Amino acid sequence: MKYVLGIDLGTSGTKTVLFDQLGKAVASALVEYPLYQPQNGWAEQDPEDWWHAAEQTIRTVLEKSGVQPADVVSLGISGQMHGLVMLDEAGKVLRRSIIWCDQRTQEECDEITAKVGYDNLIRITANPALCGFTLSKVLWVRKHEPDIYAKCRHILLPKDYVRYMLTGDFATEVSDASGMQMLDVPHRCWSDELLETLDIDKRLLAKVYESCEVTGHISAEAAKLTGLTESTLVVGGAGDNAAAAVGTGVVEDGKAFTTIGTSGVVFAHTDHLSIDPKGRVHTFCCAVPGAWHVMGVTQAAGLSLKWFRDTFCTAEKEAAASMGVDPYDLMNKEAAMSPIGANKLLYAPYLMGERTPHLDADCRGMFFGLSAMHQRRDLLRAVMEGVSYSLKDCLGILEGMGVAPEQMLACGGGGKSPLWRQMLADVFNCPVATTINTEGPALGVAILAGVGAGLYPSVQEACRAMIHLNPAQNPIEENVPKYAKVYDVYTQLYEANKQVFKALKEMA
Ligand code: XUL
Repeated sequence: MKYVLGIDLGTSGTKTVLFDQLGKAVASALVEYPLYQPQNGWAEQDPEDWWHAAEQTIRTVLEKSGVQPADVVSLGISGQMHGLVMLDEAGKVLRRSIIWCDQRTQEECDEITAKVGYDNLIRITANPALCGFTLSKVLWVRKHEPDIYAKCRHILLPKDYVRYMLTGDFATEVSDASGMQMLDVPHRCWSDELLETLDIDKRLLAKVYESCEVTGHISAEAAKLTGLTESTLVVGGAGDNAAAAVGTGVVEDGKAFTTIGTSGVVFAHTDHLSIDPKGRVHTFCCAVPGAWHVMGVTQAAGLSLKWFRDTFCTAEKEAAASMGVDPYDLMNKEAAMSPIGANKLLYAPYLMGERTPHLDADCRGMFFGLSAMHQRRDLLRAVMEGVSYSLKDCLGILEGMGVAPEQMLACGGGGKSPLWRQMLADVFNCPVATTINTEGPALGVAILAGVGAGLYPSVQEACRAMIHLNPAQNPIEENVPKYAKVYDVYTQLYEANKQVFKALKEMA
């Protein structure tokens, strides 16, 4: 039996899973790390933390499984997208990574739009200038930290930094590179035109591969540190969403998934390039060679519930610890005791600004309609509903672009909650299923690794053989119009507060 390794570099931690060549998980390990928020709207992480987590989790899965390292034929890395990693001449990290949910770069985005032109930007990168994306972060460092920029010789994405530490190679792949806003997304290569316009040296950027192509192999030094052998191949891998798509079998037209991780995503595969001219959803290259995906992003999906848990649910956390259960299970039970609409309480999940559909870095979260009758259960339910309505906003745009699915797959931490999945089925008015193997992104990149090593002829064929679904949860007919009424009020909240958010930003 041969084995493939999937490393999933997330925002809260890195999870590494060892799979056999049939897709069965044989061992997994997780190491968490901190997120630094030095200012409101800023978000940074330490690339060294990512590397240590990867190194440690690889070692642990090899030890736990007892698998011979020489039988691990290949590995893939899935990563949180957009983060900026800058290295000097010697390959040393120059500053903490400014990550995907950081919102400090609106000025740089305006500058990019002015210099490149809105239509040109959409034509080349398939997306408008966004704070989340890497390009504006590069310009921010160039403007605010010129000494660091002067020393920078390599710009990498989070997972590509871990690849560098594993192999010594400076490489990336199309799905994650799409989120840097320097890739010509229709042609799947760096855009000379855009780089020249913005005076960015192309030599700073890594070589671009397709996601299942082999980019190198484990170096002697990394072999010693991880327990792998130098013969293990490393494939392109993918951005976390493109990886989750492979891990849930969303690799053909008509297929889609929703993930509720730290962020929330509604993702649909498309064999033909399809771009929203208003830029409210992203079009990126996907991990299937020659295909793309369209996705809407809710900045704070699981993050909203985690924030609520950590800020207000000390009692649930203590009770869960003494019962040996997950605090989220208790929180779910509480939320289920509140009716649809949470007794007329709404929540807008804009804790980190919002992408789809508002593209507004300055909006912030809110509870709307608080009354003295509300209990914690109502607030909890409102948070879960608010995230679901925000995901409905994403789906609506995909529908308008003609890439809506017949069935939705649910994944991510939030996708594990039957209550949240039923909410999605009722709010989307569409069946919501889960995959039997829930490793999502880690399985996705392990599949890409298997294809790269020749264990499978194509990504689609590997998915057909390895991914199986549980029965779907169907919408409950009487719930659909109830949620629709609340959604109608929800959609008015942003417009009604748009100017107030600006005033909030200006407030000393
Ligand atoms: C996608 C995005 C997030 C991150 C973190 O554009 O920013 O999904 O990849 O998970």
